[in-house]
Amino acid sequence: MVNAKKSAQMDGDGFTLNSIPINPVDHNFLHRFFLANKKRFIQSVSGYVYDRKELQLRNHVNLKTGRITPTIDSYINAYNQATAILDKYYFGFESAICLWYCRNRVGKAQNMMRFHSDHSAYARGAVMLNLTGRVNFQIKRDWKTVKSYTVEPGDVVEFDNKVPHAVDWHPEYDGQERMCIVLFHLKPQSKHKQLSLF
Ligand SMILES: [Fe+2]
Repeated sequence: MVNAKKSAQMDGDGFTLNSIPINPVDHNFLHRFFLANKKRFIQSVSGYVYDRKELQLRNHVNLKTGRITPTIDSYINAYNQATAILDKYYFGFESAICLWYCRNRVGKAQNMMRFHSDHSAYARGAVMLNLTGRVNFQIKRDWKTVKSYTVEPGDVVEFDNKVPHAVDWHPEYDGQERMCIVLFHLKPQSKHKQLSLF
């Protein structure tokens, strides 16, 4: 396993750590956005993860069924402010998933997700803003090659969401909760399905 922080290129490894981190003002707003909307987060239906809650913006993608539903952003001022900020990092994104890896019954956050490719409703390519927590982001290019990159608070990562990837504990993991936001575009056929619902 290789740890090559700050040197990856997405076209080679499916992973790029942007040289510019999240703007501190944006970082502060987004962190507070999580805390202020804690009650709106719902338990994840993903089978690859434990103790994770989610809040989706612009479009909600059901990670089991693939059903896409427009969210209520436009009715909540803070949602509009959050999506306006997020547009700076992945302009015109169509779905954002705010992820909160929560503490479990013994008071520790899992901060782990098993290898998976993102749902077929999402287009290839995604941008992750890591707000809190330090983890190892892993990419599996083929059955025997796993590359691991340290992701720290404030990091902005671009990755190939169609290549199997996972999140694992960092050696300095201390049980703290992790908060991040992943931004996506939707596949055209997914949007068509969404329209056909009405
Ligand atoms: Fe993923």
